[in-house]
Amino acid sequence: MCGIVGYIGHREAYPIVIKGLQRLEYRGYDSAGIALYDGSNLNVCKTKGKVADLKTKSENENITKGSIGIGHTRWATHGVPNDVNSHPHYSNSGNLVIIHNGIIENYDSLRKELISRGYSFKSETDTEVLVNLIEDVQKKENIKLGKAVQIALNQVVGAYAIAVFDKQKPNEIVVARLGSPLAIGIGEEEFFIASDASPFIEFTQKAIYLEDGEMAIIRTGEEVKIRKIQGDKMVDPYVQELQMNLEQIEKGNYDHFMLKEIYEQPRAITDTYRGRMLVDKGIIRMAGVDDNIEKFLNAKRIIVVACGTSWHAGLVAEYIFEEYTRIPVEVEYASEFIYRNPIIYKDDIVIAISQSGETADTMAAIKLAKQNGAFVFGVCNVVGSSISRETHAGAYTHAGPEIGVASTKAFTTQITILSLIALKIAKAKGNISKPDYQHHLSELALIPEKVEKALNSNEHIKQVAEKYMSSANFLYLGRGFNFPVALEGALKLKEISYIHAEGYPAAEMKHGPIALIDEKMPVVVIATKKGHYQKVVSNIEEIKSRKGKIIAIVTEGDENVRNLADYVIEVPDTIEAFTPLLTTIPLQLLSYHIAVMLGKNVDQPRNLAKSVTVE
Ligand code: F6R
Repeated sequence: MCGIVGYIGHREAYPIVIKGLQRLEYRGYDSAGIALYDGSNLNVCKTKGKVADLKTKSENENITKGSIGIGHTRWATHGVPNDVNSHPHYSNSGNLVIIHNGIIENYDSLRKELISRGYSFKSETDTEVLVNLIEDVQKKENIKLGKAVQIALNQVVGAYAIAVFDKQKPNEIVVARLGSPLAIGIGEEEFFIASDASPFIEFTQKAIYLEDGEMAIIRTGEEVKIRKIQGDKMVDPYVQELQMNLEQIEKGNYDHFMLKEIYEQPRAITDTYRGRMLVDKGIIRMAGVDDNIEKFLNAKRIIVVACGTSWHAGLVAEYIFEEYTRIPVEVEYASEFIYRNPIIYKDDIVIAISQSGETADTMAAIKLAKQNGAFVFGVCNVVGSSISRETHAGAYTHAGPEIGVASTKAFTTQITILSLIALKIAKAKGNISKPDYQHHLSELALIPEKVEKALNSNEHIKQVAEKYMSSANFLYLGRGFNFPVALEGALKLKEISYIHAEGYPAAEMKHGPIALIDEKMPVVVIATKKGHYQKVVSNIEEIKSRKGKIIAIVTEGDENVRNLADYVIEVPDTIEAFTPLLTTIPLQLLSYHIAVMLGKNVDQPRNLAKSVTVE
């Protein structure tokens, strides 16, 4: 939620900040703004809308000069998205300027207090309150900016990643974080600031990720100075070498990031099991599991906490874990888990799944589980993310940066990791025979090739999309391992095409949703040969007899369903537990093509953001 970028050094800040904002636009795109100090003036340009609108406006207004600058792309929390509420925000004197990602929860009382002391506010935002609080502290105590930021932050309740500078001291930027990510890129006599490393990847591979509760003073010609916001202790900067490359964060020849990421899945799945699954030796090795194997073997229960698509991956994991490890699994929406006084035992394993590793609801669930003594294992994609640091142990998915707001490769790589863990535990517990285990490993190794084959249906899926793009509603049905895929298919369609879609367990249809079926209703049914195939075929018959339109996802060569369905989309055969890795591919492509045909913004659907750092 919200992306922040900053630069201080010897180059022009403008192109770096603008390009950086474009890379972070996945975090929010309600409005954008930039502040540059050109040696004598502090110039701010902001606008409702996208970074492209900001670029046009700042170039028209000639606000492009300066070697210190900050920029912001916003996902609105306080105040409607308009020019005034856009960041950066000034202090009343016009000296301080700030960008902020997060929420200041006690902003209302702070605002009232500041008003009583003569401050006035132009916007409805919590951020304008914060910058004036900093100014107030600075004036009252006659102290440097860094100290004033620290004192002010000790008075606020909430979450933040901020960057602030004082036009009277244009050689330093002060940054701080609590609950929202902040990375500092270290160049030669120059520094970059951003919500993730993508804005500065072509300039430097060296980065410091601030920890929660830390702030840093970034001054040209000096080392970055980091200290705790509370307690004032100095912290030694830990400089990391980044693994990301430019190609990973650019669209290449694809029209959209989402399409690129759909097509990256064979590679992403391979990268996720590479080095972990040694098929010939019959070994699965994962440090996070190996180091805690007793905990996994003795777990009485696994609780999965996650949101959105990651929650769907958790549901697939429920089927996989219960099938192979015989450990009972509960899958919880993180946001519900934290508000219902859940029963958590010390021998529970809590698995937190999150692509971004920053989702506030999931983070809160982790904290609650830890307070109750459970062991928390994270499955994250973003290296160094807050969730990966907050959990006791974990495994990264190695999907590479996912920039399209609709999650695709994160889902399949999460299922891959969770399958590896389940198989490893099943083997250690003696719940799976050696040949069966070996067969599963060999089959998992074939999944990337099979995903590649599933992708070959793209042109056919485009035709299906064309046929049904004008439908007002869709129903998605699946059973067993593929029930969560039905939910995921429906989520993909609604979030990027804004068509209402519902996922249901196929057999549950007759308990209500069947009433919706008529000749206008497309029903996407996952009817692969494994599992409850015959039962799903009966469900298809029920839809057909009510004149519903059937789009069936079937196993290659299935003639039976072909005779019943309006359209069939084939996927290769595999072990039932791995079918979600294949059946989800046509559903991703179907929603993608429908959204493109409807002229929607596929990578940045309305009202959404990639990283949801508010509860
Ligand atoms: C759907 C989607 C969201 C996320 C959810 C959790 O396509 O992207 O539903 O899955 O916000 O995000 P992470 O996995 O980053 O915790």
